[in-house]
Amino acid sequence: MERGQIEARVRALGEWFHNLDLGGVATAPDHFLGDYPRAVWESIQGSVPADLRGKTVLDVGCNAGFFSLEMKKRGAARVVGVDHDERYLAQARLAAEVSGLDVEFENRSVYDLARLGGRFDVVLFMGVLYHLRHPLLALDLLHAHAVGELLVFQSMIRGSQGRIPVAEDYRFEEREVFDHPAWPKLHFIERAYCGDGTNWWIPNRACVEAMLRSAGFDPQPIAGTEVYVCGRLPRDPAESGAVYPARE
Ligand SMILES: C[S@@+](CC[C@H](N)C(=O)[O-])C[C@H]1O[C@@H](n2cnc3c(N)ncnc32)[C@H](O)[C@@H]1O
Repeated sequence: MERGQIEARVRALGEWFHNLDLGGVATAPDHFLGDYPRAVWESIQGSVPADLRGKTVLDVGCNAGFFSLEMKKRGAARVVGVDHDERYLAQARLAAEVSGLDVEFENRSVYDLARLGGRFDVVLFMGVLYHLRHPLLALDLLHAHAVGELLVFQSMIRGSQGRIPVAEDYRFEEREVFDHPAWPKLHFIERAYCGDGTNWWIPNRACVEAMLRSAGFDPQPIAGTEVYVCGRLPRDPAESGAVYPARE
């Protein structure tokens, strides 16, 4: 495809959230986060398996496919990107076409992953948690139906970056601990944050880690970022939930 043709097709697909370089055409050169998501990728790429040959990868909330394409460049046997926004999927398909990379993109919600019919070795779940009204349900579903070996996770984080030890239990009279800045907190956004009414719950760092553990993952932070590489814990989530039978 010639540059002019790429430019025309890029612009015809509306506003882009991913700034991709498609044959010399930048899709979102004025992104409010800078060169997004390339700058994030540069800070995490050393912590993500470099050789994905023979592996299957699922990118949940793939947007225009930046991370899906990077996974394919690392040799993954199969990469599937899912998103519930058809506009972004059209952008992702164009990006794959221009890049000459074989990635499948399909319209699917994180709440509907069970219908994919099997687990993927590596699952990316980046920048989606805080867009969900039911974030813990999504993590439970990822654990139950999608993640085979590794989850690469990112959330916007607001509030404390601290951590406090988590006790096994707390007395009914215990009140102060809830006001500790590093107590796990999800901040509820009733209206909008950053001009975006789809931001619902923004966690502090302790909450991100506690939710991941609670859903059966082992969050290893990538220093200086909001990204975690998580293995599966050798047990299912301990607590009851929408996905698991209630305790007792
Ligand atoms: C902030 S963007 C993050 C895109 C990309 N994962 C990244 O890290 O750059 C959030 C993406 O999640 C998608 N999304 C939001 N809710 C979703 C849901 N319930 N199921 C699937 N995708 C969802 C949005 O359409 C959007 O493309």
